[in-house]
Amino acid sequence: MGKNSRTSPLGKQDSVWMATTRKTDFPVLGQKHKFFDVVVVGGGITGITTAFLLKRAGKSVCIVEARRIITGTTGFTTAKLTSLHGQIYKHLASVFGKEKAKLYGQANEEGLALVGELIAKNKIDCDFVKSPAFTFCEDEVEIPELEKEYKVAKSLGLPAKFITKGLALPAIKAAVEFENQAFFHPRKYLLKMASLFNSPNTPIFEKTRALDISESPSGCLVKTDHGNIAADYVVVATQAPFYDPAFYYARQAPERSYVLALETKNVDLNGMYYQSGESYNSFRPHITGKKKYIIVGGQAHKVGQGEDILKRFGSLALYSKKNFSFDRISYHWGAQDFYTGDRVPFIGKISPKHKRVFVATGFGGWGMTTGTVAGTIIRDLILKRKNKYIELYDPNRVKAQALPLMIKEGVDTTKRYATSFLNHKKIVPSKLKKGQAEVGVYKKRKVAAFRDKSGKLVVLSATCTHLGCTVSWNNAEKSWDCPCHGSRFSATGEVLNAPAISKLEAVKAAS
Ligand SMILES: Cc1cc2nc3c(=O)[nH]c(=O)nc-3n(C[C@H](O)[C@H](O)[C@H](O)COP(=O)(O)OP(=O)(O)OC[C@H]3O[C@@H](n4cnc5c(N)ncnc54)[C@H](O)[C@@H]3O)c2cc1C
Ligand code: FES
Repeated sequence: MGKNSRTSPLGKQDSVWMATTRKTDFPVLGQKHKFFDVVVVGGGITGITTAFLLKRAGKSVCIVEARRIITGTTGFTTAKLTSLHGQIYKHLASVFGKEKAKLYGQANEEGLALVGELIAKNKIDCDFVKSPAFTFCEDEVEIPELEKEYKVAKSLGLPAKFITKGLALPAIKAAVEFENQAFFHPRKYLLKMASLFNSPNTPIFEKTRALDISESPSGCLVKTDHGNIAADYVVVATQAPFYDPAFYYARQAPERSYVLALETKNVDLNGMYYQSGESYNSFRPHITGKKKYIIVGGQAHKVGQGEDILKRFGSLALYSKKNFSFDRISYHWGAQDFYTGDRVPFIGKISPKHKRVFVATGFGGWGMTTGTVAGTIIRDLILKRKNKYIELYDPNRVKAQALPLMIKEGVDTTKRYATSFLNHKKIVPSKLKKGQAEVGVYKKRKVAAFRDKSGKLVVLSATCTHLGCTVSWNNAEKSWDCPCHGSRFSATGEVLNAPAISKLEAVKAAS
């Protein structure tokens, strides 16, 4: 996204984190690297933290990243470090019981503390600020539910308060507050973590896409587009698992949402705020040197089903104007995360049959703390150490509460397949105007065609390379997004988001 930054009333199309940090240039996988104790696939907060902790425990580890590290969701997050995840504790206490709900809270408090420790120990300059976190409501009818959430959180030993006064916006009626939470600049933190990690015995490989994994009793083999690597263990930290022996694509839903960085002279916020609900709103301060921003997020929808994304950015800009005073919108961006049926992420052995391949996914919009916790859980599983969180996050747990999501996702995917066969609109790609994109049938093939601002026409197969749904156009981010399981492709067909591993096929067409 950084490369194609454009200026508009919404500012640059880039995240404030990407735009204010250096780019990385680690090499592709070379011939001499044939064996590691652990191969970590994916260079976001989950992959880098896991690799860092395993190196600290004495393992030879490498990170294999398909694009550049910290350019996935971690480079486009809002980076609040908190155990206050909307209104999750009532839900966890009723589905998993109070003990497990307490463990969830403790795990995230530990994730928050670990980030703080790593920053302090390694003197990482990353705009880390301790701050309260708030989950708020604007409608009085929601107050009793919020109060219940507070009571459950408090009973679990979490640092909860219930407040109705002194909140950031006049529209806010009440909030649950957690004290001693934090926010930071995720790329400043992780670029330093990556540079501390990278060494001849623990290298980072970029522009190296993992394509497959095989496991035998004696070890694993990771197949990549630059050769194979053998390892005792493999960690799949690619957000959506590209290697999927346990149907993760059907067990979690991909949601995309949007963010604005509002540049301002004064940030008059007493903490970071989150309004849970279908299409959540969130905001937090970000102060770095002389620059001050309010980071505003919202407008969530299932990936590939957001329709007019420019309109969504417009709605977020309206929300910002209504609630904050600021000089300009400096940056706008989008990102996505995956939501499990029982709202607990999947961290652990990738399937009951696997002993050497681990996964961490389904962070539900809270991967800053949970991606960090995932590092400690997977490290302990590999080192065969005890860890009290293993059972809670076990990806192979069976929970009845996960069924409705699986059924909903199954029905949605079936509907998407069916409509992709019914939709036979014929298109003539050569007639597309500059900036126009269309999906339709051309010479008996379903194609996705786009003519960019310079007039260059690109015609691709519209069939997602993951499992065959038809992609749709994202008019703000200029990408082809799959409405089924979260894969996204650039306007020229390159994979932007897993689970896909192959680009959209080019189709020859007159320009
Ligand atoms: C708008 C938004 C705001 C958010 N705000 C917050 C917040 O305030 N607090 C919070 O806790 N969480 C937040 N989250 C969630 C959090 O950002 C994510 O959960 C977290 O960044 C996920 O990190 P990750 O390392 O698992 O994935 P990623 O950062 O996406 O990293 C995965 C990496 O794997 C690579 N990859 C993919 N396939 C392959 C392959 N086949 N081979 C090699 N590499 C591959 C990708 O290129 C990518 O670099 C937010 C999410 C969104 C969408
Ligand atoms: S992401 Fe699964 S079919 Fe496209």
